[in-house]
Amino acid sequence: GIGVSKLLKETGMTTYDPGFVNTAACSSAITYIDGDAGILRYRGYPIEQLAEKSSFLEVSYLLIYGELPTEQQLAEFTEWIRRHSLLHEEMRRFFDGFPRDAHPMAVLSSAVSAISTFYQDSLDPFDSEHVEISTVRLMAKVPTIASYAYKKSIGQPLLYPDNSLGYVENFLRLTFGVPAEPYEVDPVVAKVLDMLFILHADHEQNCSTSTVRLVGSSNANLFASVSAGVNALFGPLHGGANQAVLEMLQHIHADGGDVRTFVQKVKNREDGVKLMGFGHRVYKNYDPRAAIVKKAAQDVLGRMAKPDPLLDIAMELEEIALADDFFVSRRLYPNVDFYTGLIYKAMGFPTKMFTVLFALGRLPGWIAQWREMINDPETKIGRPRQVYTGSPERSYVPLTDR
Ligand code: ACO
Repeated sequence: GIGVSKLLKETGMTTYDPGFVNTAACSSAITYIDGDAGILRYRGYPIEQLAEKSSFLEVSYLLIYGELPTEQQLAEFTEWIRRHSLLHEEMRRFFDGFPRDAHPMAVLSSAVSAISTFYQDSLDPFDSEHVEISTVRLMAKVPTIASYAYKKSIGQPLLYPDNSLGYVENFLRLTFGVPAEPYEVDPVVAKVLDMLFILHADHEQNCSTSTVRLVGSSNANLFASVSAGVNALFGPLHGGANQAVLEMLQHIHADGGDVRTFVQKVKNREDGVKLMGFGHRVYKNYDPRAAIVKKAAQDVLGRMAKPDPLLDIAMELEEIALADDFFVSRRLYPNVDFYTGLIYKAMGFPTKMFTVLFALGRLPGWIAQWREMINDPETKIGRPRQVYTGSPERSYVPLTDR
């Protein structure tokens, strides 16, 4: 790779690769994906093992620092994050200014960007102490911000974090708890949400992570870089897919639940409709995370008193698509987000919060990738080239002659 880029530079040639389908923009030791074999590993550990045996904060430590923590390291990391979960009191007031129907992803990216205004003395990307404290502040405050974005949308008062609770439990209480009423965290919900965060924690150079690296390559601080990542994740082709999947399932249900007609619409490309939650740039056989999520969806939804008809629609969609040559020949399989929305819905999250949950999970990945980029001597400011297709040189025509 390095040899080719040097050769291209010396000969003045430019590669044209829309969407960077075949271009590596960096080297990285964090996440390994083999899209044909359906393999995903963080720092060498298979995703299946981490999802089953680890916890989200342990995986965050692994991604950020490169090794699984010792018991003491994990306890210190957890404690440090716990101590920073409060937002600056003035920052709480930001939430009053947003319109009530604001999308929580827009609130999240604005608030993450605004964190840097409170810590202007510790933003130097090349000062390791600044980077450590910024890492902890982000890990600690993003769940608080996410739950405040939700509280704002339903007009409920904001709660203060309860530092006797674990990371995910605290987030659940901040989101669903109300003042002066006890809130019992359902341990199954907490465990599944923790596992879903693990599944989303990193995915090498996807759109949002590449954005974090690109913004950070100008030496922008961690908060500025991560808020750009949140905005990249907002789009329906990326993090917004989990919301789009649920809306698609609701739409099919409202139309009478005829799955085959919907699949035909996708195949006819009517109104540009896609089978949301299907397909992936890298996984061309299956997404290893999708199998884990499908099982969790069946477990969580199976506990509900009233079955969700959308789960049946999703399973029927999957079955029909996996037996249809249109999808098989294009190697389109369910991705991680095909079933996550159903789980989030069963947990009580409104659709608008789904992408925020993705952001909470992806946070340690963004941080780990930004830190790797800043410390990599090969890093240069990101600056792609273009193939110019505009007008050749022409002379200015005065306004009166046009
Ligand atoms: N439904 C119907 N057709 C599809 C779908 C889909 N979900 N995905 C791809 N295709 C078709 C394309 O139209 C194209 O067909 P053609 O060759 O006849 O023109 C072919 O399959 C190849 O697809 P590309 O668009 O070239 O694949 P790309 O790698 O660029 O896109 C993407 C990947 C964006 C994920 C795409 O599959 C998609 O839009 N999926 C739906 C949105 C989604 O679920 N996004 C979540 C991604 S995973 C994540 O962010 C966690």
